Amino acid sequence: MRNFEFYTPTRVVFGRDAEAQTGRLVKDLGCKKVLLHYGGGSARRSGLLDRIVASLKAEEIEFVELGGVVPNPRLSKVNEGIALSKREGVDFILAVGGGSVIDSAKAIGYGIANEGDVWDFYMGERKPSACAPIGAVLTIAAAGSEMSDSSVITNENGMVKRGCSNDLARCKFAAMNPELTFSLPQYQTESGCVDIMMHTLERYFTPCRNSELNDALAFGLLSTVVKNAKILMREPRNYDARAEIMWAGSLSHNGVTGDRFIGDWSCHQLEHELSGMFDVAHGAGLAAIWGSWARYVYKSNPERFADLGENVFGCASPFAEDRAIECIEAMEAFFEEVEMPTSISKLGINLDDAIIRELADKCSWGGRRKLGAFKRLDKNDMENIYAMAR
Ligand code: NZQ
Ligand code: ZN
Repeated sequence: MRNFEFYTPTRVVFGRDAEAQTGRLVKDLGCKKVLLHYGGGSARRSGLLDRIVASLKAEEIEFVELGGVVPNPRLSKVNEGIALSKREGVDFILAVGGGSVIDSAKAIGYGIANEGDVWDFYMGERKPSACAPIGAVLTIAAAGSEMSDSSVITNENGMVKRGCSNDLARCKFAAMNPELTFSLPQYQTESGCVDIMMHTLERYFTPCRNSELNDALAFGLLSTVVKNAKILMREPRNYDARAEIMWAGSLSHNGVTGDRFIGDWSCHQLEHELSGMFDVAHGAGLAAIWGSWARYVYKSNPERFADLGENVFGCASPFAEDRAIECIEAMEAFFEEVEMPTSISKLGINLDDAIIRELADKCSWGGRRKLGAFKRLDKNDMENIYAMAR
């Protein structure tokens, strides 16, 4: 086993009515004024915001509200949140929503605690030295931002989507009530399931084998998501299936299934350009790209794909290379079963050659950056994968 670091400081409060503890959780941290940050309306419509406000009031915690975070959250909303928080003396940011709201909250946290333009952190030009404390009430199992070190923001100026990863921004707590996800549209549920799987797969596809235990955790998590994603197609209000998926979402991206330093992450980087430019749901974008990426790279180490296929989909071809292909086909058949797109055209996007060149140029930072660990990809490889996936 290689040397590694593992850091996961988020207090998880999981189960029915978890959100009722929000006020106490903020109070325990010694914070006094909250920015209540949320999305486009689902949390208001469901009555969740009212319950959280009641919980804050019960602990005499003051708050100001900022809603309107959109999927693929925007820098302008982040800047609005930073200005409001500074004006109001906010000392805690409470994200009520999914990856988009939590990521926006993290960016606001950086903005409150550091001087200058917060976008510098996302362009990798500076590193934040602090972050205001963040907590989350999770309403969608997907991005894993409630336990991850990462935040992904889209700058409307050029529709550039960039991430900033830093332990400073990890949530102090995450309240996770699976019932809150009952109201998700099927497309968001299944898109979330794909994203959850990808966070483990990106860590699984390393140049050398992960530890036996990491692989076993990965196979267990992936099998659980495949099983329960199918159940949720038929029974969206199945509490246990929602709970399995919600917990898988956090574990998949808190680092427990793999080594934080040597994952692949190519599919994520390729997809971020796509959702930055075309505003697609991140998980659906990943489903559209994964099969083409897999076919492009599997020969680097077919055994890795073969093991995955055997352990998650029961692939049984006698030769590893055949099992690898069987695995890729089984994954795509699963995506189709849960009505996720297996090509970019199925996302409703027609990529011409010029757009493919633009996507690859952005993703490779004008040819300066390579992607991947399982197989290193240059700008030309990126163009090839986008072309295969279109
Ligand atoms: O805005 P509202 O009205 O709440 O609607 C949202 C939104 O339209 C809706 N929704 C959320 N909870 C709901 C609900 N609708 C009904 N009932 C509920 N309970 O779902 C839609 C999608 O929400 P969003 O927060 O965008 O979803 P997700 O959690 O998938 O987050 C996606 C964002 O996270 C980034 C993605 O790139 C994308 O920008 N990621 C963040 C990561 C991280 N910070 O670690 C890692 C990921 O790889 C990912 O890149
Ligand atoms: Zn993701």
